[in-house]
Parts: sequence; structure tokens; C-alpha cells
Amino acid sequence: MRHLLSTRDLDRTTAVRILDIAEDMADVAQRAVPKLPTLRGKTVANLFFEDSTRTRLSFEAAAKRLSAEVITFSAKGSSVSKGESLKDTAQTIAAMGMDAVVLRHSASGAAATLAGSGWIDAAVVNAGDGTHEHPTQGLLDAYSIRKRLHGAASRGRDLDGVRVTIVGDIVHSRVARSNVWLLTTLGAEVSLVAPATLLPGAIDSWPVTASHDLDAAIAAKPDALMMLRVQAERMTSGFFPNEREYAREWGLSAERFARLDADTMVLHPGPMNRGLEISSAAADSARSVVLDQVTNGVSIRMAVLYLVLSGNDGTDA
Ligand code: CP
Repeated sequence: MRHLLSTRDLDRTTAVRILDIAEDMADVAQRAVPKLPTLRGKTVANLFFEDSTRTRLSFEAAAKRLSAEVITFSAKGSSVSKGESLKDTAQTIAAMGMDAVVLRHSASGAAATLAGSGWIDAAVVNAGDGTHEHPTQGLLDAYSIRKRLHGAASRGRDLDGVRVTIVGDIVHSRVARSNVWLLTTLGAEVSLVAPATLLPGAIDSWPVTASHDLDAAIAAKPDALMMLRVQAERMTSGFFPNEREYAREWGLSAERFARLDADTMVLHPGPMNRGLEISSAAADSARSVVLDQVTNGVSIRMAVLYLVLSGNDGTDA
């Protein structure tokens, strides 16, 4: 695998292989065994033009647990404030030596632009580009669902017939897009629930069903309920419905959570707006896999860095 730009590009075999390699990396990711020498001599550059806690730190942890060196760039406090472009920033860091770039950027398509530009000779991993995709988040979510359903018997499995409901601010969510493409490729049945103003216009061409009724979705007893963050920072023309109405109609309140089937797991990519899209009763419950998602993110990012930096397609991993 040369780059990882989207989950839309992944076929089922490749996606299952990435999850399986992450499974193989899990003991190292969780520091149950010492780090691996696999990427010794390689340098990973984290280029973050948008804020991040989970993605940036877990890519850093993943690279270090494979013995790679890490350079971290945050746009805040950098020469981006003086007008330096993505091209010049990437080439400046490349001039110091790097083998892979992990890029987060506010522009949809930024990672594909960098990968196809010829500006640098490095593998590119998309760590979130605008409202387009966040492929490693989709992979860690699929991994977390598979792990919760199948435990130690997860290896080799897809998500055939697993029912996943994704709730909330779909229109601004790169996480939702990466999950829709990946989960359906893996055989899951995906339904979306959102206010009409937060569903994208292109929804008719997506392989999903969509509705506005969270209570009906909960009554349908999905295997997994994925609550999305309300992305107020991307709502330049205001937030409709307002927060109170949103929490009442589309929030996983304590009362709604009490009605959720005992076997339904709850996911959230983080950061969470507690009291808006998710209650603490749900987020901190035994059915929540929110912190498992964070833990599993390190394994997934180790698998992805291994694949893009070893030139391996995963068949002999
Ligand atoms: N889920 C996610 O991308 O979180 P961060 O913005 O903290 O990286």
C-alpha cells in the first residue's frame, strides 16, 4: 500500500487484512510486550493543520512502537501564520528527511493533493481532510465493533449482517463518510439518523438508509450505535436545530440510553460534547467502547504505518 487516503478505495480483503494486522500489533500497541524494530530508520512526519488529541498522539505512539522517528508539526505557532503554503510546508519538512506524512487539514482532498502532487516523495496517510474522510478512524471503529462482537475470535472476520446506526452531524462528518464506505464494504448494514439540516444532499447515492427518528432507531436494536460530535466550528451560518432541541431529539440522553438494548454497543469518535449528543450515563457505561476506540487506534495506526512504509500489501504480513 503506497498511501491511505480514503476507505472508499479499500476492498473487503484489504480492509480485513488491515484489521488483522492491527490485531497482530495489539500487544505491542498496548505495551504488553516491547516495541518492534520494524520501522527502525524510518521517519514519520505528523503534519497537523487542524487541532487533534487522539489522532496525533496515537499516530505518534504507533510510529514509536514500531521504532520509527517522529517529527510533529502543528500549524498553530508555525510559519503557516505567515502565509506558508501546504506545498512549501511539506517540502520544508521533507528536506529534513521523512518517509511518511500523516496529514490533517481543513481542506477536503488535501491528502490526495499531496499524494498526487509530486511535491514530496513520501507515503501519505490521511488523518482527516475537511468533511471528506478520516480513514484510520473508520478502520479503528470497524476494529472496535468486530472486537466487541467476536473478541479473541475476531481475526479474519468481516462485519457481514452487523447493523450499525450512525447518529448526528453527518453533513460535516468525515468520520461518518469513512465509516459508511468501510462498514458497508465489510458487509454491515448502515443506517443514518439526523435532523434534515445535518444530512448531506448526496445521501441518495450512499449505500445506507436515512431517517430523522432516533427513538425508532433505538427500538430497532442495532448492534452498534455511533454518536457523532456536533461540529459547531463548521456551522458558519448557525446551528439549526438549536442545542436544546438537538439534545432532546437526537442526543443519547440517560433516558434514551436506558431504553437501548442491553447488547447494543455505543461508539463516539471523540471529542464528546457531553450533554449535547451523548450523556455521561451512556459515555461512561459498560456498553460504551469510546476508550476502546482510542486504545484500538494505536493498533490500527501501527498497521497502516507498517503497510505504507514497508511497501507490503498485507498479503505476507
Ligand atoms: N476522533 C478524532 O479524530 O479525534 P481528534 O480530533 O482528537 O484527533
